[in-house]
Amino acid sequence: MNSNEWVNIVEVGPRDGLQNEKQSISFEDKIELIQRLDSAGLTYIESGSFVSPKWVSQMASTKEIFNYLKEHEASNKTFAALVPNLKGLESALTTKVKEIAVFIAASESFSKKNINKSIDEAVATTREVIEEARKHNIKVRGYLSCVLGCPYEGQVDTKTVVQLTKKLIDLGAYEVSLGDTIGVGTPFKARELLRALKEEVPVSKLAGHFHDTYGQALANVWVSLEEGIRTFDSSVAGLGGCPYAKGASGNLSTEDLVYMLHNSGYDTGIDLHKVIEAGNFINTVLGRETNSKVAKALA
Ligand code: HMG
Ligand code: MG
Repeated sequence: MNSNEWVNIVEVGPRDGLQNEKQSISFEDKIELIQRLDSAGLTYIESGSFVSPKWVSQMASTKEIFNYLKEHEASNKTFAALVPNLKGLESALTTKVKEIAVFIAASESFSKKNINKSIDEAVATTREVIEEARKHNIKVRGYLSCVLGCPYEGQVDTKTVVQLTKKLIDLGAYEVSLGDTIGVGTPFKARELLRALKEEVPVSKLAGHFHDTYGQALANVWVSLEEGIRTFDSSVAGLGGCPYAKGASGNLSTEDLVYMLHNSGYDTGIDLHKVIEAGNFINTVLGRETNSKVAKALA
């Protein structure tokens, strides 16, 4: 193994983490969470979604959050938002967001439940969003959900995952984050999928987004590292889930990911103790215990 190789961490707590919370979280608390993560050395923080507030009410303050962040954003930091369609992009553009993430799924049923569109319709909308975003020099990251299983259909065809990953890249996404939306993947299955993907797509364009529902996320990260992936999404305190994926628990916690990487010859530039403090802050706001084993162990 190469010593001190760099791994990029995409912090998704303020978006994937909070989108699933029923209780109202104030604008001030969301900003404080983002700022604490920023101070902990996270350079990429997904901070909201320009989705319909009727579908995900917790993300309704995204415009205000990005208006605030634009005044405080350092040039080496990325604060990104999910955008499902042109209406969402229109809102995003009013905030001068510099990067967005589009999202589609490898399962018809999940796509319909999550965004009310078939996969083909979602691809067509994504094409429009990426074309328009590029006119405004906005970078676009892509998500593909249900790559290792679907909450409605169970098994998902590897060929469909490969084809849609390629599609996102062809449409202009610079990277595709592979979402194990309900955390059912195992290292064996993750490796098989990555090997199939690597035949068609450069590994540098792939990222891992492992929910930890079945406790497999760190193991899936490890095989992804072995297969050459160097970007992973994680969520402070292991917050998260998708409101349209019943049973999906939190993402892999940033604390557990950073601990494993720093003690396995990888660097991330992140201060573990400060991430734990950010986690303590949001857990106090939410009135709950952390999902991070490392945060518990070091408490
Ligand atoms: P729809 O109801 O089909 O939309 O929702 P529509 O186009 O028919 O419009 C209906 C109304 O919504 C209209 O308003 C539109 O203007 C409005 P009305 O005329 O009735 O007043 N509308 C919007 N409002 C605000 N922002 C918008 C927007 N678009 C339309 N962007 C839509 C379609 C996609 C909007 C909806 O299904 C939606 O917002 N879905 C979001 C679901 C979501 O956020 N899921 C979680 C994120 S994905 C995830 O977590 C997975 C991931 O983490 C990876 C993984 O783990 O796998 C990324
Ligand atoms: Mg997710």
